[in-house]
Amino acid sequence: MTTVVAVEKKKLAQPPLNIHYLGDRVLRQPAKRIAKVDDQLRQTIAQMLQTMYSADGIGLAAPQVGIHKQLIVIDLALDQPDKPPLVLINPKIVKSSNDLCNSEEGCLSIPGVYLEVTRPETIEVSYKNELGKPCKLKANGLLSRAIQHEMDHLNGVMFVDRVENNLALNEELNKRGFAVSAVKPIKK
Ligand code: CO
Repeated sequence: MTTVVAVEKKKLAQPPLNIHYLGDRVLRQPAKRIAKVDDQLRQTIAQMLQTMYSADGIGLAAPQVGIHKQLIVIDLALDQPDKPPLVLINPKIVKSSNDLCNSEEGCLSIPGVYLEVTRPETIEVSYKNELGKPCKLKANGLLSRAIQHEMDHLNGVMFVDRVENNLALNEELNKRGFAVSAVKPIKK
């Protein structure tokens, strides 16, 4: 399988885009639907991938680099240079399991903070790929979690908003120098 967005999986000394951090308002703005998948968008996708690889991340959502578009890149095979990354444009969760699971998450916008989050175990997502082709994907495990985490970013939601253990949350954020007031807990 090949991809039209060919980016080498390596770290750049000067990544093309800047990642915004928790506390930055940019991260809280909702992303807009993408009307056209063209070369300009593919250029943005390539830059997002380069930025993600440079930061050693497995996922990046456009709002994290200040682009308010419904666009996500994910790569769970950083050690496999020929395996193309996953690009999701205008993703929509069409089904999610009642079964929940708990797992530790981190985020390039909150470096050093890792905390447990509960999410549906399995999801089905529809989206367009980097060629504009409509696709559907059923995911579980890490991929399911990565997609849900990145899709939250498109709605201005950060994973720390979903953390239920307040004690651990405050402790971790303090340790890494993030303001607890930057968290916007999800009302259940
Ligand atoms: Co994130």
